Amino acid sequence: MNIRLEDICKEYKRGRRSFTVLDNISFELPSGKFVVIKGDSGVGKSTLLGIISGLIRPTSGKVFIGDNEITSLEEGKLSSLRNAHLGIVTQDSDLIPYLTMEDNIKLTYEINRSDKEFDSQRYDEILDILGLSDLKGSYPSEMSGGEIKRAAVARALVMSPDVVIMDEPTANLDRNNVRSVLRLLRMMSDKGSTVIISSHEEEASAFADIVKDLEREAV
Ligand SMILES: Nc1ncnc2c1ncn2[C@@H]1O[C@H](COP(=O)(O)OP(=O)(O)O)[C@@H](O)[C@H]1O
Ligand SMILES: [Mg+2]
Repeated sequence: MNIRLEDICKEYKRGRRSFTVLDNISFELPSGKFVVIKGDSGVGKSTLLGIISGLIRPTSGKVFIGDNEITSLEEGKLSSLRNAHLGIVTQDSDLIPYLTMEDNIKLTYEINRSDKEFDSQRYDEILDILGLSDLKGSYPSEMSGGEIKRAAVARALVMSPDVVIMDEPTANLDRNNVRSVLRLLRMMSDKGSTVIISSHEEEASAFADIVKDLEREAV
């Protein structure tokens, strides 16, 4: 699915003052491309990804996911669209504490893909690439922050979403894991998913088809 942003503006309020974070952002992301959103902390990367995911409403402007203009969709339809087509990892994506990693991943799958049988081979492949194979039975309290982050990535990718949206999926990972995550995202986009991530990792740009620098966008 391709994604199109039309004149996106976002203002936030801090106390009584409002300030503009995104000022007239427009671009089109073709289906199957791997896009990296770059820019310093505070520039608006998470806000932009939240708007594309339909989790944050823009102050003005439109977001098209395929043929759907999502800013005018009511909450119920928006969440159906999200569950059917998007795989989202936010900066604070977490696992459910009282379920093992495997049950976390399978539960999410059942909720969102109840019509499709769970693809165990794909699941094993993803866990293997992300170095999580030995942690299937582990509870989040027994996992490191980086492992939880990678499990959140696995949980989203197991569903083969048409659009993958991940906010800093490589943050706080070591070199090898940064590379594994990027390689996996590259594979997803080669198989046809549109992949959009934010990252301040220089290496991410090397894997991407398109790099959007929000800093430059602003000037
Ligand atoms: N809900 C909010 N209310 C007010 N200000 C916010 C809110 N969310 C983010 N901001 C501010 O908007 C700016 C952009 O934030 P963010 O999109 O998280 O940037 P980035 O992800 O690039 O670090 C920051 O200055 C941040 O403090
Ligand atoms: Mg952010």
